[in-house]
Amino acid sequence: MGLDNCCLVDLPKITDPRGNLTFIEANRHVPFEIKRVYYLYDVPGGSDRGGHAHKRLHQLIIALAGSFEIVLDDGQTKKPFHLNRSYLGLHVGPMVWREIRNFSSGAVCLVLASDFYDETDYYRDYHAFLEAVRPK
Ligand code: TYD
Repeated sequence: MGLDNCCLVDLPKITDPRGNLTFIEANRHVPFEIKRVYYLYDVPGGSDRGGHAHKRLHQLIIALAGSFEIVLDDGQTKKPFHLNRSYLGLHVGPMVWREIRNFSSGAVCLVLASDFYDETDYYRDYHAFLEAVRPK
């Protein structure tokens, strides 16, 4: 749980003068079975998203194009990451609040997720999230 479960993953990169190639295999390059893929695109430059945590979901977040910042927060510590490489993924585990900020124009944010979309898996209220993660 928490930020110990979150790290940058260096994905395989096949460099080629015709264009580079990166691949991702479930349970090898990401430590979970991939059940869902989604992506954010046409995001206005400078805008922000995120602002939630998941109870059980694992995700790998990749800046497929452009760049953005992700601030992870487990209720104790906040840790910023700048994503701007197509071969770098950020693994975000359960019970971690994330804010995604400062998208460059034309950025594409790819997310691989360990489960299907389920609204009951979200904390969308920061205070409710803090109540859940902070020791009583
Ligand atoms: P949300 O997770 O709130 O995006 P962000 O935190 O990046 O702003 O999702 C935005 C909307 O899209 C919300 O109404 C739920 C819906 N949605 C799906 O229907 N399926 C999905 O897989 C995702 C990620 C979101």
